[in-house]
Amino acid sequence: MHPCWCPLFFRRLLSFTTENGFVREGWSVPLLAPALFVHSVMRIEKDRFFFRECNKKRQKDMDNQKTVLVTGGCGFIGANFVRLLNQEKRSWRLINLDKLTYAGNLQNLAGIEEGENYRFVKGDIGDVVLLESLFTEERIDIVVHFAAESHVDRSITGPADFIRTNIVGTFTLLEAARNAWMDDSSRVDAPLFLHVSTDEVYGSLGETGFFSETTPFDPRSPYSASKASSDHLVSAYYHTYGLPTIITNCSNNYGPYQFPEKLIPLIFNNAMQGKKLPVYGDGKNIRDWLYVVDHCQAIVAVLEKGRPGRRYNIGGNNEKQNKDVVRLICDTLDRKVGLLPNGRPRTELITFVSDRLGHDRRYAIDATRISEELGWQPAISFEKGIEKTIDWYLDNREWVAAVVDGSYRDYYRDMYENR
Ligand code: NAD
Ligand code: TYD
Repeated sequence: MHPCWCPLFFRRLLSFTTENGFVREGWSVPLLAPALFVHSVMRIEKDRFFFRECNKKRQKDMDNQKTVLVTGGCGFIGANFVRLLNQEKRSWRLINLDKLTYAGNLQNLAGIEEGENYRFVKGDIGDVVLLESLFTEERIDIVVHFAAESHVDRSITGPADFIRTNIVGTFTLLEAARNAWMDDSSRVDAPLFLHVSTDEVYGSLGETGFFSETTPFDPRSPYSASKASSDHLVSAYYHTYGLPTIITNCSNNYGPYQFPEKLIPLIFNNAMQGKKLPVYGDGKNIRDWLYVVDHCQAIVAVLEKGRPGRRYNIGGNNEKQNKDVVRLICDTLDRKVGLLPNGRPRTELITFVSDRLGHDRRYAIDATRISEELGWQPAISFEKGIEKTIDWYLDNREWVAAVVDGSYRDYYRDMYENR
């Protein structure tokens, strides 16, 4: 028999020191403790057994009716994902849970009607009661978790929301999924919890090398640290409870509906208005850019064919220095809408400003796993993606005008005016 079953062991283990230094052995506690211990071990084993069985039953054919809870579906990537599923997975019902923070915008989903296939719920992923009722009412099969505070600069000036949403919110969502799925033996298909994360959890690269799925975490900003924490929680729920989870770590996205606090839409917006184009530090920091629809397609591939418990890196195989990205946007705009009113090219607006604190130098993804295991590759080159993105922003100037109104002006002034 394992020694931890021995009552004497428990009696010693649960003895405690009183205020005046005596060691007391309480017998009522040792009698209760083994029962509690056995109960919690049995509960965890029951969860693990249930999820193992579910995964065996997991259907490869994802064209069946599914109910998918998308969190953060009114943000940049979430909205592109909801739009893609709405076209490609007509039999799926989508529940979009979004708090509508400054980054969430119902206009990002204009044209998608509420009905049998789509429901919008305004709410917080940290709201236990709301989550419990959603899981019960909707019988969720799949969670695709985008909701997060996502901007590094904001995490430097105000990290608290990042801790609340990215860490505590993800924990709350994991608990809701575990509680709802654990006892549901009537379920036919295995559920799945897909956590959308970032390459920033791996830290910063030197001039060579790539992030692989086994690169140790080394987050450097409050944002990346909060995402790394959430990744660890997701992973812990897989290993401890057998909750079927998958994590994706993607490089920098760009494309339609991105809020103009991130580099590409911010530069577009300033360049259109003839305002300075702020480039941090020496402008030689490198990001691996991926068109947002390619990212969404990768998530679909992971939902369809990914293995629970696994992590998949997603990248564009497209490293660019920031200053080159900014120049490309300037040149593309000059070509599409003409030079500045003074006849000068937009590159003359480029202004090097003081660097971001703890600015990661280089990100680059090794996406071999997702390409070899799931057959996913990016379909859109950077040059084509930038053309499409700029065309979208040019065609949707009202969208831009609406989102840079109000609180964006205060944000811009605080972040850039005395930089
Ligand atoms: P975003 O900031 O554009 O959107 C975030 C969305 O989440 C918004 O709609 C917001 O209202 C919602 N939200 C925030 N807090 C919430 C809460 N407590 N409850 C419910 N909803 C809440 O972000 P994004 O760029 O679309 O990123 C989506 C996810 O992808 C994030 O998890 C991010 O870490 C990850 N990611 C982003 C990139 C990128 O380049 N943008 C790259 C890799 C990974
Ligand atoms: P960003 O879009 O904020 O994404 P992330 O920090 O998550 O990579 O920034 C992309 C790169 O562009 C990053 O190296 C910081 C830099 N940057 C600027 O040089 N100027 C800017 O105004 C912004 C927003 C970003």
